[in-house]
Amino acid sequence: MDIKIPEQAVNYLINILKAERYLEIGVASGGTYLAVNCKEKVGVDPHPQFEGILKMTSQEFWKTSSEPFDVIFIDGDHSFGVSQGDLLNALNFIHAKSYILLHDTNPEDVTYTISGGRADGLYTGEVYKTVMWAKQNPALDYITLDMPFGMTVVKLAKNPNLLKEEPDYSFDNFAKERDFWLNLKSSTSETLDKFVKDQKEEKCKKISKR
Ligand SMILES: C[S@@+](CC[C@H](N)C(=O)[O-])C[C@H]1O[C@@H](n2cnc3c(N)ncnc32)[C@H](O)[C@@H]1O
Repeated sequence: MDIKIPEQAVNYLINILKAERYLEIGVASGGTYLAVNCKEKVGVDPHPQFEGILKMTSQEFWKTSSEPFDVIFIDGDHSFGVSQGDLLNALNFIHAKSYILLHDTNPEDVTYTISGGRADGLYTGEVYKTVMWAKQNPALDYITLDMPFGMTVVKLAKNPNLLKEEPDYSFDNFAKERDFWLNLKSSTSETLDKFVKDQKEEKCKKISKR
Protein backbone atom coordinates (compact mmCIF):
# COMPACT_ATOMS: atom_id res chain seq x y z
CA MET A 1 0.00 0.00 0.00
CA ASP A 2 1.29 3.46 -0.89
CA ILE A 3 1.62 5.93 1.97
CA LYS A 4 0.97 9.45 0.77
CA ILE A 5 0.08 11.52 3.82
CA PRO A 6 1.19 11.59 7.48
CA GLU A 7 -1.98 10.07 8.94
CA GLN A 8 -1.46 6.94 6.80
CA ALA A 9 2.09 6.47 8.11
CA VAL A 10 1.04 7.08 11.71
CA ASN A 11 -2.03 4.84 11.57
CA TYR A 12 -0.15 2.06 9.80
CA LEU A 13 2.57 2.07 12.47
CA ILE A 14 0.02 2.19 15.30
CA ASN A 15 -1.73 -0.76 13.75
CA ILE A 16 1.29 -3.04 13.28
CA LEU A 17 2.78 -2.10 16.64
CA LYS A 18 -0.55 -2.44 18.43
CA ALA A 19 0.34 0.95 19.87
CA GLU A 20 -1.85 2.40 22.60
CA ARG A 21 -0.29 5.79 23.35
CA TYR A 22 0.23 8.49 20.69
CA LEU A 23 1.74 11.96 21.07
CA GLU A 24 1.58 14.66 18.39
CA ILE A 25 3.71 17.80 18.69
CA GLY A 26 2.15 20.57 16.56
CA VAL A 27 -1.47 19.69 15.84
CA ALA A 28 -2.81 22.74 13.92
CA SER A 29 -6.37 22.02 12.76
CA GLY A 30 -5.99 18.30 13.50
CA GLY A 31 -5.59 17.07 9.91
CA THR A 32 -3.52 14.18 11.23
CA TYR A 33 -4.42 14.11 14.94
CA LEU A 34 -8.17 13.72 14.42
CA ALA A 35 -7.62 10.97 11.83
CA VAL A 36 -5.34 8.92 14.09
CA ASN A 37 -6.88 5.82 15.64
CA CYS A 38 -5.25 5.14 18.98
CA LYS A 39 -6.52 4.31 22.47
CA GLU A 40 -4.84 7.31 24.12
CA LYS A 41 -3.86 10.46 22.23
CA VAL A 42 -2.07 13.57 23.50
CA GLY A 43 -1.73 16.66 21.33
CA VAL A 44 0.47 19.68 22.07
CA ASP A 45 0.19 23.05 20.35
CA PRO A 46 0.64 26.61 21.67
CA HIS A 47 -2.26 27.68 19.44
CA PRO A 48 -4.80 24.85 19.65
CA GLN A 49 -7.63 25.08 17.15
CA PHE A 50 -9.99 22.71 18.98
CA GLU A 51 -10.62 21.39 22.48
CA GLY A 52 -8.61 18.65 24.16
CA ILE A 53 -5.19 19.77 22.95
CA LEU A 54 -2.57 20.89 25.50
CA LYS A 55 -2.06 24.62 24.98
CA MET A 56 1.71 24.83 25.34
CA THR A 57 4.90 24.65 23.33
CA SER A 58 6.77 21.37 23.03
CA GLN A 59 9.57 22.94 25.08
CA GLU A 60 7.08 23.36 27.95
CA PHE A 61 5.64 19.90 27.42
CA TRP A 62 9.07 18.22 27.65
CA LYS A 63 9.42 19.67 31.16
CA THR A 64 6.40 17.67 32.30
CA SER A 65 6.41 13.94 32.90
CA SER A 66 4.30 11.19 31.40
CA GLU A 67 4.04 7.49 30.76
CA PRO A 68 6.07 6.56 27.66
CA PHE A 69 4.40 6.88 24.26
CA ASP A 70 4.45 4.13 21.62
CA VAL A 71 4.39 6.55 18.68
CA ILE A 72 5.39 10.23 18.65
CA PHE A 73 4.78 12.49 15.64
CA ILE A 74 6.90 15.67 15.68
CA ASP A 75 5.47 18.44 13.49
CA GLY A 76 5.70 21.63 15.56
CA ASP A 77 8.24 24.43 15.25
CA HIS A 78 10.29 23.60 12.13
CA SER A 79 13.49 25.46 13.08
CA PHE A 80 16.66 23.38 13.52
CA GLY A 81 17.04 24.27 17.19
CA VAL A 82 13.49 23.36 18.21
CA SER A 83 13.06 20.27 16.01
CA GLN A 84 16.43 18.97 17.25
CA GLY A 85 15.31 19.60 20.84
CA ASP A 86 12.02 17.84 20.11
CA LEU A 87 13.77 14.72 18.83
CA LEU A 88 16.24 14.70 21.73
CA ASN A 89 13.56 15.25 24.38
CA ALA A 90 11.19 12.75 22.78
CA LEU A 91 13.79 10.07 23.60
CA ASN A 92 12.89 10.56 27.28
CA PHE A 93 9.21 9.90 26.51
CA ILE A 94 9.52 6.54 24.75
CA HIS A 95 10.35 2.90 25.46
CA ALA A 96 12.64 0.53 23.55
CA LYS A 97 10.01 -0.38 20.92
CA SER A 98 8.61 3.10 20.29
CA TYR A 99 8.84 4.99 17.00
CA ILE A 100 9.27 8.72 16.40
CA LEU A 101 8.16 10.38 13.17
CA LEU A 102 9.49 13.69 11.91
CA HIS A 103 7.59 15.49 9.18
CA ASP A 104 8.96 17.77 6.42
CA THR A 105 12.46 16.31 6.34
CA ASN A 106 12.88 16.28 2.55
CA PRO A 107 12.60 19.82 1.12
CA GLU A 108 12.73 19.81 -2.68
CA ASP A 109 14.83 22.97 -2.85
CA VAL A 110 16.15 25.67 -0.57
CA THR A 111 13.09 27.94 -0.95
CA TYR A 112 11.08 25.49 1.18
CA THR A 113 13.52 25.86 4.06
CA ILE A 114 13.14 29.62 4.44
CA SER A 115 10.16 31.10 6.27
CA GLY A 116 8.37 33.30 3.69
CA GLY A 117 10.68 31.91 1.01
CA ARG A 118 7.87 30.90 -1.34
CA ALA A 119 4.88 32.62 -2.89
CA ASP A 120 2.72 29.52 -2.22
CA GLY A 121 3.57 29.69 1.51
CA LEU A 122 4.86 26.11 1.61
CA TYR A 123 7.53 25.72 4.28
CA THR A 124 9.41 22.67 5.51
CA GLY A 125 11.89 24.62 7.61
CA GLU A 126 15.16 23.13 8.75
CA VAL A 127 13.98 19.76 10.00
CA TYR A 128 16.29 18.14 7.43
CA LYS A 129 19.21 19.39 9.57
CA THR A 130 17.83 17.47 12.55
CA VAL A 131 18.00 14.29 10.46
CA MET A 132 21.60 15.09 9.45
CA TRP A 133 22.37 15.61 13.13
CA ALA A 134 20.74 12.27 14.09
CA LYS A 135 23.29 10.46 11.93
CA GLN A 136 25.80 11.11 14.71
CA ASN A 137 23.71 9.30 17.34
CA PRO A 138 24.95 5.70 17.74
CA ALA A 139 21.63 4.57 19.24
CA LEU A 140 19.28 5.83 16.52
CA ASP A 141 18.41 4.22 13.19
CA TYR A 142 16.04 5.83 10.70
CA ILE A 143 14.52 5.74 7.25
CA THR A 144 12.74 8.52 5.36
CA LEU A 145 9.55 7.74 3.51
CA ASP A 146 9.70 9.36 0.10
CA MET A 147 6.30 11.06 0.37
CA PRO A 148 5.62 14.75 -0.34
CA PHE A 149 7.89 16.79 1.98
CA GLY A 150 9.32 13.60 3.50
CA MET A 151 8.59 11.71 6.69
CA THR A 152 11.50 10.34 8.71
CA VAL A 153 10.80 7.37 10.96
CA VAL A 154 13.21 6.85 13.86
CA LYS A 155 13.70 3.83 16.10
CA LEU A 156 16.06 2.93 18.91
CA ALA A 157 18.60 0.60 17.30
CA LYS A 158 22.29 0.53 16.53
CA ASN A 159 22.99 3.22 13.93
CA PRO A 160 24.29 1.28 10.90
CA ASN A 161 25.76 4.39 9.20
CA LEU A 162 27.21 6.30 12.12
CA LEU A 163 28.74 9.66 11.22
CA LYS A 164 31.82 10.43 13.29
CA GLU A 165 31.97 14.20 12.75
CA GLU A 166 29.58 17.12 12.88
CA PRO A 167 28.27 17.51 9.30
CA ASP A 168 28.15 20.62 7.16
CA TYR A 169 24.46 21.50 7.56
CA SER A 170 24.23 23.69 4.45
CA PHE A 171 21.35 22.95 2.10
CA ASP A 172 23.82 22.42 -0.75
CA ASN A 173 25.59 19.68 1.18
CA PHE A 174 22.25 18.06 2.05
CA ALA A 175 20.97 18.23 -1.54
CA LYS A 176 24.21 16.77 -2.95
CA GLU A 177 23.67 13.53 -1.02
CA ARG A 178 20.02 13.62 -0.09
CA ASP A 179 19.68 9.85 -0.19
CA PHE A 180 22.64 9.35 2.14
CA TRP A 181 21.40 11.88 4.68
CA LEU A 182 17.78 10.77 4.70
CA ASN A 183 18.08 7.04 3.99
CA LEU A 184 15.24 7.49 1.50
CA LYS A 185 12.87 4.57 0.95
CA SER A 186 9.73 4.16 -1.12
CA SER A 187 6.74 5.32 0.87
CA THR A 188 4.85 2.08 1.30
CA SER A 189 3.48 -0.12 4.05
CA GLU A 190 6.04 -2.78 3.01
CA THR A 191 8.86 -0.36 3.85
CA LEU A 192 7.41 0.21 7.31
CA ASP A 193 6.86 -3.53 7.80
CA LYS A 194 10.52 -4.18 7.04
CA PHE A 195 11.81 -1.38 9.27
CA VAL A 196 9.74 -2.68 12.20
CA LYS A 197 10.57 -6.35 11.50
CA ASP A 198 14.33 -5.60 11.41
CA GLN A 199 14.13 -4.16 14.91
CA LYS A 200 12.23 -7.18 16.23
CA GLU A 201 14.82 -9.54 14.67
CA GLU A 202 17.72 -7.56 16.13
CA LYS A 203 16.15 -7.83 19.60
CA CYS A 204 15.60 -11.58 19.18
CA LYS A 205 19.25 -12.07 18.13
CA LYS A 206 20.41 -10.20 21.25
CA ILE A 207 18.21 -12.32 23.49
CA SER A 208 19.32 -15.61 21.90
CA LYS A 209 22.99 -14.63 22.33
CA ARG A 210 22.59 -14.33 26.12
C1 LIG B 1 2.64 22.11 10.30
S1 LIG B 1 1.52 22.49 11.55
C2 LIG B 1 1.07 20.91 12.17
C3 LIG B 1 0.24 20.08 11.23
C4 LIG B 1 -0.33 18.82 11.83
N1 LIG B 1 0.65 18.01 12.52
C5 LIG B 1 -0.98 17.98 10.75
O1 LIG B 1 -0.42 16.93 10.38
O2 LIG B 1 -2.06 18.35 10.27
C6 LIG B 1 2.57 23.12 12.81
C7 LIG B 1 1.89 23.40 14.13
O3 LIG B 1 2.93 23.50 15.11
C8 LIG B 1 2.55 24.42 16.07
N2 LIG B 1 3.76 24.87 16.78
C9 LIG B 1 4.56 25.91 16.49
N3 LIG B 1 5.54 26.01 17.39
C10 LIG B 1 5.37 24.98 18.25
C11 LIG B 1 6.05 24.52 19.42
N4 LIG B 1 7.14 25.15 19.87
N5 LIG B 1 5.58 23.43 20.05
C12 LIG B 1 4.48 22.78 19.60
N6 LIG B 1 3.79 23.16 18.51
C13 LIG B 1 4.22 24.24 17.85
C14 LIG B 1 1.84 25.52 15.29
O4 LIG B 1 0.96 26.25 16.15
C15 LIG B 1 1.11 24.71 14.21
O5 LIG B 1 -0.21 24.47 14.61
